[in-house]
Amino acid sequence: LTAKDKEFLLNSIRNIYDFPKEGIVFKDITTLLNNKEAFNLLMTHLEDRYKEYNLDYVAGIDSRGFIFGAALADRLNVGFVPVRKKGKLPGTTVCEKYELEYGFDEVEIHLDAFNEKKDARVLLIDDLIATGGTANAAAKLIKNVKANLVEVCFLLNLTFLDGKKRVEEHANVYTILDI
Ligand code: PRP
Ligand code: ADE
Repeated sequence: LTAKDKEFLLNSIRNIYDFPKEGIVFKDITTLLNNKEAFNLLMTHLEDRYKEYNLDYVAGIDSRGFIFGAALADRLNVGFVPVRKKGKLPGTTVCEKYELEYGFDEVEIHLDAFNEKKDARVLLIDDLIATGGTANAAAKLIKNVKANLVEVCFLLNLTFLDGKKRVEEHANVYTILDI
């Protein structure tokens, strides 16, 4: 991506001030998704990068990671696996607890999600990394079910929260826009 492409993508993301609470600048990706040029530019970039990775699956984090992850899995002709917030997956799952700004949450994955492939090569994707708590828990889950976590990818990295280094304990981390 050129500097101009990155600027175009960044400008397609809307800032909503004081959502979901005072002091937070919420990065709203719905304005990237409903802009066909921006969405296509992003997905073509991801396809070009990951077509050489020999992936077996793309795993996406609930809920915005589902949008990019499922679109990318289809472009790469591989399967998609959801990492969900607790209580949503119907089969046998493994869970990982993680810390939020206030309190805790849990993510889950189906125990047999990658069973069709031994040592499945998996890319984990989400829209954004803030503290890294969610992605750190998701990365642990993928390793717990014996898959091979090849890389973790985010469209946006909120660098002031320094979450990237937590996730780098598990795999290489690729971020497209560092802000
Ligand atoms: C957002 C975002 C990431 C996570 C990043 O999801 O999509 O998944 O927060 O924060 P962290 O790095 O501090 O863990 P959210 O939990 O708001 O859920 P949503 O996608 O369903 O809105
Ligand atoms: N998740 C955590 N922090 C966020 C932010 N500032 N904007 C959008 N999603 C987020």
